[in-house]
Amino acid sequence: MKILGIESSCDETSASVVENGRRLLSNVVNSQIDIHAVYGGVVPEIAARSHIEAINPVINQALKEAGTSWDDIDAIAVTYAPGLVGSLLVGTLAARTLALLKNKPLYPIHHVEAHVYANFLNQQPPEFPLLALIVSGGHSQLVLFRDHGDYVLLGQTQDDAIGEAFDKVAKILGLPYPGGPSIAKAALLGDASKYQLPKARMQNAYDFSFSGLKTAVLRAVQREVGVDFTFPSHELPGLLNDAQRNDFAASFQRVAIETLVGKAFAAYEEYLPKSIVIAGGVAANQELRRQLSARIPLHIEYAPSELCTDNAAMVATLGYYYAQEKPPVHPFSLEVVPSLSMTRTTWAQL
Ligand code: KG4
Ligand code: ZN
Repeated sequence: MKILGIESSCDETSASVVENGRRLLSNVVNSQIDIHAVYGGVVPEIAARSHIEAINPVINQALKEAGTSWDDIDAIAVTYAPGLVGSLLVGTLAARTLALLKNKPLYPIHHVEAHVYANFLNQQPPEFPLLALIVSGGHSQLVLFRDHGDYVLLGQTQDDAIGEAFDKVAKILGLPYPGGPSIAKAALLGDASKYQLPKARMQNAYDFSFSGLKTAVLRAVQREVGVDFTFPSHELPGLLNDAQRNDFAASFQRVAIETLVGKAFAAYEEYLPKSIVIAGGVAANQELRRQLSARIPLHIEYAPSELCTDNAAMVATLGYYYAQEKPPVHPFSLEVVPSLSMTRTTWAQL
């Protein structure tokens, strides 16, 4: 079964063809990072317009690279939630139109759930029960999957997502957007024990909070360069030298990653899953992979970086499992849901 996946929930326009939820035939990603970098973050209106320009060429390219024609495609899977409304609309409208025109079954896919399925594009898919640490620009969650479409949320962020914290701290330090990769790079040259930063204590041990850590970095930077909180924060990077910048990046990354790994380890001990996966853009972080492998006594297969950040391959992969269990939706009735969280099993809801 060959599924065409379509993803446009944030700032990547992507289309992919995946066979039987396992074999990646193509994965075309048109990233808007350069367009948004000048603003230091994603501008929703610009993102939506850019998706409109990219969506058709990206879909055509994905079919071409997979060596498939429309006759070979068995179904279309598309991200319908959560994300930026204007961005989601472009991908879902394209998918709905194509499903009608080409007479293909259409499957709505939850973006965050899909991130987990980047790890199923593998000769040996992970086994259930599966513990997933989902760490992206918009989400930080620990989720226990008992089976496909059957999961419980163990904990989630109460304020900033981890990727958002990387992006905001990068801005404080004057490192380029997106902050995750630039902090990881700067951290390689820095001293991770130079600055002592706090770890948030949460009532539910599996919940996260990263907003305090971000503010602690801001205050520490202000102290280091000898200004107080009234000093304009956009002028702070100009007062830092490279060594200080690298030390702050390394110290922040250490505390952020230790927090994630500590919680994942506690959940591992409590639930004893058969496998553990990390998903979402921050899963590309090498320090996270290193610490997780050092701490958890399970063999962990990590997805390649390009399948950790937003892509349609993960959407097509989840679409395959979804199609085994659920009927398709009618193209006329598919609506976007910009803020649907993973708190309950979404398959049961649909
Ligand atoms: O999953 P994703 O592509 O988009 C969302 O669905 O949010 O994640 C993007 C996030 C950004 O915050 C980016 O800074 C972060 O992933 N990221 C990283 C790395 N690569 C991307 N964070 C830490 N280390 C990285 N190597
Ligand atoms: Zn994502």
